[in-house]
Amino acid sequence: MRILNPNYIYINGDFKENIAVAFNSKIESIDNIEKLKEKYQDVEVIDCGKNSVLYPGFINTHVHLEFSANRTTLKYGNFMRWLYSVIDNRDELLNRCDNAMMQRACEDMLSSGITTFGAISSFGTELEVCEKTPQKVIFFNELIGSNMAYIDALYNDFLVRVKASKEAIENGIIPAIAMHSPYSVHPVALKRALEVAKANNMPISAHFLESPEEREWFEDGSGEFLEFFKKYFNTTQPMTTIDEFLSYFDNTPTHFTHLTQAKEKELKYISKNGHSIAHCPRSNRFLGCGKLDLEKVQELDILFSVATDGLSSNSSLNIFDELYSAIMIHNGEDLIKLSKLLISSVTTQPAKIFNLNSGEIEEGRDADFAIIKLADTPSSLNDIALYTILHTKKVNSLFISGEQII
Ligand code: BEZ
Ligand code: FE2
Repeated sequence: MRILNPNYIYINGDFKENIAVAFNSKIESIDNIEKLKEKYQDVEVIDCGKNSVLYPGFINTHVHLEFSANRTTLKYGNFMRWLYSVIDNRDELLNRCDNAMMQRACEDMLSSGITTFGAISSFGTELEVCEKTPQKVIFFNELIGSNMAYIDALYNDFLVRVKASKEAIENGIIPAIAMHSPYSVHPVALKRALEVAKANNMPISAHFLESPEEREWFEDGSGEFLEFFKKYFNTTQPMTTIDEFLSYFDNTPTHFTHLTQAKEKELKYISKNGHSIAHCPRSNRFLGCGKLDLEKVQELDILFSVATDGLSSNSSLNIFDELYSAIMIHNGEDLIKLSKLLISSVTTQPAKIFNLNSGEIEEGRDADFAIIKLADTPSSLNDIALYTILHTKKVNSLFISGEQII
């Protein structure tokens, strides 16, 4: 048993003073320091220092580790320009991305306080690194393939990867499934994969309505995706519609990534069916995709996470960088309210979405903590979320299941 004694603590969506936490691998007790010292005598008390803030460990629900080699290879600015550059450079990028590089990406996430992440895995090559990293990993085995001629082979490969991730549960892996997108997964394969997810009670994720080009393709069968499909697949028609794609997930709450091009109609459907959203503001900005309608998301009570996406469409995996950018991108929102909402989007909200026993300072939860130090005394408790986001790049210390990592 140990006790963490911070200046401030993020608890029940607010910032409080004079609250300490006693923990083993789980949180045992939350009270003022005197009471905890009385209750647990002769245990180590870790004083977190002046202007320290204790947060639950942060959760980054969407990252592509396999593409960590990208810096100046892929083309940003426009989604189709980016997609063509991915196809042209994929093999080279994957070849350059070895375990050491993916491990560094995990360490970068650790240094910004990320104690759980969702790895979107196209090939399964990051499984070993994800097993070794101290973080908990929701391992999203991704299914891709629009061409019926290859679907059986692709689907069988997907099942092999799912099996490998199931065998890694004791190493902190939570097996999960990702559908690449409505334009790249054949509905026949998608339905089969959803059955697997349902039978195994696995979390599900899918990129959806990421770019204006994707919306145009589904609405009119035209635009740059038409040229793309003619060139690579010799097809001229989308395989599904926006509404039909959404309906496949009716009985399986899904974490949809991006939705920058979603309209009120789709957001209402998502709300009604208990789905959630991964919001990647920098990735969306860098690929020229627009931004999620955060006002509507809040109005409809949709749970959402802010996530970094991979280095294939971002400049870092630092969650503070992402939150800072979210503040700048959603410039119509009240600054203080938005900052607090953003903190919930990397803690309590993703924990709820994926039913994780972390993301919240509460007795019985996993002792996953990110401790930061503000540069100076905050002018008010209510502004701590903003000050944290504005001035933090790295955490001062980090605990996962009670073990000190940083
Ligand atoms: C496919 O593998 O079928 C695919 C990949 C990317 C975009 C569209 C289709
Ligand atoms: Fe992604």
